[in-house]
Amino acid sequence: MNMIAYIDNASQAIQNSFLDYYHSLVESFHDNSEKHLSYRAFANRTERATKALACEKEAIFYTVAYGKQHYASMEYLLSENLPLERVNQSAIRVVDYGCGQGIATLALLEYLANNELTSDMKIDIHLIEPSIISLKIAELLIHLVAKKLDLQVSVYSQHCRLQKAKIAFTDDMQTFHLMSNIVDIDSVQASLADLCDKIKSNQGEQFLFALSPDYSNTSMGFDILTNSLSFADELFNDSVGLLYYDVYRVVQGCYKSHNSSQRMLALHWQ
Ligand SMILES: C[S@@+](CC[C@H](N)C(=O)[O-])C[C@H]1O[C@@H](n2cnc3c(N)ncnc32)[C@H](O)[C@@H]1O
Repeated sequence: MNMIAYIDNASQAIQNSFLDYYHSLVESFHDNSEKHLSYRAFANRTERATKALACEKEAIFYTVAYGKQHYASMEYLLSENLPLERVNQSAIRVVDYGCGQGIATLALLEYLANNELTSDMKIDIHLIEPSIISLKIAELLIHLVAKKLDLQVSVYSQHCRLQKAKIAFTDDMQTFHLMSNIVDIDSVQASLADLCDKIKSNQGEQFLFALSPDYSNTSMGFDILTNSLSFADELFNDSVGLLYYDVYRVVQGCYKSHNSSQRMLALHWQ
C-alpha cells in the first residue's frame, strides 16, 4: 500500500471526529511499522516537527506521534477558556496559523458542534501553512469532519509562511485565531510582531488561542504575543501540566498515558 492509500483509508474511518482518523492511522502504522519512518529519522529531518513536512510519510508519522496530543491540548484550552455564550451563532471566521494538518481547527469545530452551537453557523476557515502536503490533508480532514457534523464551512488556503500571509479582513466577523504548536519556532517568532500588527487591523470581536510545549524558548513567543496585543483581555496565560490518556507512543509501539507541560494563552478583544 502506498502512503496516500494509508491516508485515504484512515480518512474513510471518520465518523464525526479527527480522533477516528487518528486511531485508524495508528492501527495501520502499528501493523506496518517497517514501512514507516522511525522517530529518529523523522525528528532529524523535520527538526522535531518544526519544519514544513515534505511527504505523506512524514505527515503520517506526525499524526501518529503527535496528533491526539495536539488535538487534546487545543480542546482543553478551548473548554477552559472559550465563553460559549459569546460565540456568534450565525457566522465566525477561523484563522489557523501554521495549521499543519488542521488539528487545531478540527478541535475547535468539534468543540462548537459538541456544544450544539453550529446548526445555522457559517464558518470561514483560513489555513496558513508552508507544507503543501500538510495543507492538502488539512483541507481533506476539515471537509470530511464538517460533512459528518453537518457544518457549513468554506475553506481558504494560503500555501505560505506567516511572513507572506494575508489576514486583513474588511468585515467585522467574529474571528478565532489559532496558534497551535508554532509559537516556539524561530521563524515564527521572527514574524510574530508583524503578524500581530496585521491581526490588530481587523474589526469585530476577536479571540486568540495559542499553545506550545513548555520548552526553554517558548516563553519568548508568548511574550511577543502578549506585548503586541497588550490591549486584549487575558482569559488565560500560564503553563499547564496535562496528562494525555491513551496516546500512541511510537518508540514503545503501544498506547500509553503521557504527561506534558504546555504553555497556553487565551486572549479576547473587540
Ligand atoms: C509542530 S507543527 C504544528 C502544526 C499544527 N498547528 C498542529 O498543532 O498540529 C509546526 C507547523 O508550523 C509550520 N511552520 C514552520 N515555520 C513556519 C512559518 N514561518 N510560517 C508558518 N508556518 C510555519 C510547519 O510547516 C508545521 O506545520
